[in-house]
Amino acid sequence: MASGEGTNFSSIVQSIKDKKLIAEVSVLVVNKPFCGARERAKEYDIPCLVIDHTKFKSRESLDNELVKTFEYFQVEGIVMAGWMRIVTNILIDKYQNRILNIHPSLLPSFRGVNAIQQAMEAGVKITGCSVHFVKRSVDSGEIIAQVALPIFENESTDSLRMRVQAQEHKVLPKAIALAGMRWRGS
Ligand code: GAR
Repeated sequence: MASGEGTNFSSIVQSIKDKKLIAEVSVLVVNKPFCGARERAKEYDIPCLVIDHTKFKSRESLDNELVKTFEYFQVEGIVMAGWMRIVTNILIDKYQNRILNIHPSLLPSFRGVNAIQQAMEAGVKITGCSVHFVKRSVDSGEIIAQVALPIFENESTDSLRMRVQAQEHKVLPKAIALAGMRWRGS
């Protein structure tokens, strides 16, 4: 699932292509018709469905559509790779401990939107990224993997975002493998 540029989506697909991750991406779901992630799916020839949140009356009705889609594609797990919508119990209860989310902070610090900016404003010297199982409250749930990074003196938000994302691209495929081991009982 993605809403944005899709660099994390690409990191998953590329890890599979490079045989670093044994997995298959059955489908990409995006909520924005013109996001970069959709273009990337086209390039990789991966089915991509647009489930546009503005077309749904409630978060629940959107999530019902997501569940239908994932059932149709018979997915074993779901990765929120920059999915910028809050998900509800409709999706979470159906896929308990089967949904992963990547977040650009060292959770439990700086949940929600603009996590990188939040870290800069708080003046912390170390931040990073986290991959966790999705629970009912936002950006919480068991942490699968984290990477810590220093924030340099006078660093810009853009430079920090680039460094955090570079680490996200490494840690997300690893976290998927770790989750997969749990799903397969190994
Ligand atoms: C990533 O940095 C991810 O951590 C963040 O959105 C970005 C998506 O980038 N997610 C959140 O902030 C979720 N709360 P991408 O579309 O290039 O993968």
